[in-house]
Amino acid sequence: MPDRYQCLRALLGDDRLLTAEDDLAHYGRDWTRQYPPAPGAIALPATVEEVQELVRWARREGVAIVPSGGRTGLSGGAVAMHGELVVSFERMNRVLDFDPLDRTLTVEAGVVTEAVQQAARERDLFYPVDFGSRGSSQIGGNIATNAGGIKVIRYGMTRDWVAGLKAVTGTGELLELNRGLVKNATGYDFRHLLIGSEGTLGLVVEATLRLTDPPPPLAVMLLAVSGLDALMGVFAQAREHLTLTAFEFFSEAALKHVLARGGQRPFEGEAPAYVLVEYEAPDEHATEAALAVFEQGVESGAVVDGVLAQSQAQASALWHLREGITEAVAPRTPYKNDVSVRIARVASFLADLQSLFAREYPDFEVIEFGHIGDGNMHISVLRPEAMAMDAFTRACAHVTGKLSDVLARHGGSISAEHGVGLLKKPYLACTRSAHEIALMRQVKRVFDPDGILNPGKLFDPEPVSVGHDA
Ligand code: LAC
Ligand code: ZN
Repeated sequence: MPDRYQCLRALLGDDRLLTAEDDLAHYGRDWTRQYPPAPGAIALPATVEEVQELVRWARREGVAIVPSGGRTGLSGGAVAMHGELVVSFERMNRVLDFDPLDRTLTVEAGVVTEAVQQAARERDLFYPVDFGSRGSSQIGGNIATNAGGIKVIRYGMTRDWVAGLKAVTGTGELLELNRGLVKNATGYDFRHLLIGSEGTLGLVVEATLRLTDPPPPLAVMLLAVSGLDALMGVFAQAREHLTLTAFEFFSEAALKHVLARGGQRPFEGEAPAYVLVEYEAPDEHATEAALAVFEQGVESGAVVDGVLAQSQAQASALWHLREGITEAVAPRTPYKNDVSVRIARVASFLADLQSLFAREYPDFEVIEFGHIGDGNMHISVLRPEAMAMDAFTRACAHVTGKLSDVLARHGGSISAEHGVGLLKKPYLACTRSAHEIALMRQVKRVFDPDGILNPGKLFDPEPVSVGHDA
């Protein structure tokens, strides 16, 4: 049988062109578990030129490419199910440059988030984008999905930290975007177009990241609240009196799953929901302000209990209650929603959400948590043990349709930070207008005329038009 990958083997050598079954299974999927991986081969380029060669080959051969970072995505953006060539960036993992005056760090796409954070620390600076998957997610994937996480309330999304970007388009051309400039008023900023495009417009090969001052000491307070309807009142108080670096909520149902794997219940009794408040605490005024927020909450009836971490270890233990949720429920392969509304709409949205779930999901366990201070809620629905997977998926898809309508009414988004990928593709029109989606398709064609870059993610490939621009 002729080897279709002969050319690539010559380019990369046998150790960087993988076709063994276990490699295909490993590199062909991300943290979503419902899509069976079936890529054709895995390429591990080590240079930008090799990436360009791979794209040119794919274009010649009509093979689709799926870019692959740490594959920690939750929407199937890095899944390869149809014989694609997976291009993994794990061999492109060098820190290339640091400029103390610009305060920028230039890295290859495959550098792991935690390594970027560490490289910044070693230079007495700070890379603030942070999330639970920091130990395996890669910067290229973070950029491709505009990753958010737990510090967005203070520092914004990945987008806000990208000063320059190199990416290879669907024709194999290398774009060098913005080159680290602070100011650059020269028309369309393709850097921002590429950020969050989920590998459909170009393959991110290198990034120049902005760094900032390390934060002052941080403090952590966990509050038990009387209900989801009490959350935003507490948030308003906390934001007024503290410099927040995180404001994260989780329900009692979520906490139970984390505690089932170990750790201590933070309060005597149960409460409907909890908020983890992290704030800058350069001096004792911050502690006084935090206590005032707590007391005010108790007076209003919104807060029923609270604990202020007295040590770093205690702060980490409290953080674990929030950060451990995804891992704790993972064995149940939950159906994940990741939605957002404007902060001002959270309270009324949550009320509508509760009645929707009470109506549509009476028998399912629903785990609510997330970055409520950003207007971002994660809702993981657990399959009843007795229910078959496909019946469960159908039921969830049905409810997601209804959820889309509620979101549309509140002007919200069907994907706040996990991306669209495969999972949320059917619901894109709830957040983006038909005209926007039509423009997106046209933009894709400009950057990727043959449709080889991560096709089928975000939206389906364009139907072949008959008798029109063949
Ligand atoms: C989190 C992931 C699921 O916030 O986005 O834990
Ligand atoms: Zn999240």
